[in-house]
Amino acid sequence: MTHPLDQPSLAGPTKWNSMDLQLAGKTAVVTGASKGIGLAVVRGLVDEGARVIAGARTSGPELDGLVAGGAVEFVPIDLSTPDGPAALVKRAVDAGGFDVVVNNVGAVAPRPGGFLSVSDDDWQRSLDLTLLAAVRTIRAALPELTRRGGGSIVTISSVNASLPDPLVIDYSAAKAALANFCKSLSKEVGGSGIRVNTVSPGPVETALWLGENGVAQTVAQAGGATPEEVAAAAAAASVTGRFTRPQEVADLVLVLASERFANVTGADFRIDGGLIQTL
Ligand SMILES: NC(=O)c1ccc[n+]([C@@H]2O[C@H](COP(=O)([O-])OP(=O)(O)OC[C@H]3O[C@@H](n4cnc5c(N)ncnc54)[C@H](OP(=O)(O)O)[C@@H]3O)[C@@H](O)[C@H]2O)c1
Repeated sequence: MTHPLDQPSLAGPTKWNSMDLQLAGKTAVVTGASKGIGLAVVRGLVDEGARVIAGARTSGPELDGLVAGGAVEFVPIDLSTPDGPAALVKRAVDAGGFDVVVNNVGAVAPRPGGFLSVSDDDWQRSLDLTLLAAVRTIRAALPELTRRGGGSIVTISSVNASLPDPLVIDYSAAKAALANFCKSLSKEVGGSGIRVNTVSPGPVETALWLGENGVAQTVAQAGGATPEEVAAAAAAASVTGRFTRPQEVADLVLVLASERFANVTGADFRIDGGLIQTL
């Protein structure tokens, strides 16, 4: 017997209703914006009618194209330095301010030599880019968001924040600290209308995993497999059997940036194809 709500006359025609994320006219600061997830976030924001202040050390053809469209300003900046994040934020304030901050920058160096092969300098590099770049960006950005009466901070964490892995031991620790920091901060600034959320991807189809000196290539060189075999094994570890696409991470970031989700804060959203098997 057909359920009453399944009858076409009651349920109405099946169609996708688009949701207005109300990002048109907003401005966002995006770190690590020239490639991969950051570039997809910039493109998604522009498609929604937002303006973007985009920081990375170098631009690329795709980001150049978005800059040429007029909605994006590229700021060449090294975000691993103590002063880089504040300089990026200052440029955004000078250009008229912002409503959204996307802390995307981060990098991973696999450590096939194990923990004892990771020097203090290696640890410092990981902490500078994967933890402190976000801490410094947010420290510089909070006065502007407070002045505006609120805003959204979205930070790209990783499944490794809760899936510690000796192959990426310093990266895992830095992401765990990043996630913990964001949760603490969400409690301090929530009353000022500033939302702080994290997105935790599993393997994503970007240069970080699949490019020159990426995870697949580095692990393959150390273990006698091909990069394709390493990537295929990583894909097979998730229940969907594939990597996440940068655009899919970007779509989640846009949702969290949107004031349609104004009561979502202090939350972490996994996007990993079911890689993490527990609740
Ligand atoms: N890909 C994955 O599988 C995956 C999974 C989980 C989490 N994540 C996280 O997602 C974020 C983005 O990763 P992705 O895969 O998109 O990386 P990606 O493809 O390697 O892109 C990294 C971006 O950051 C910029 N960048 C790197 N070092 C920088 C520096 N010192 N100063 C300023 N900009 C810098 C790069 O441009 P320049 O080199 O020109 O500076 C580029 O635009 C990272 O936080 C990463 O940890 C990625």
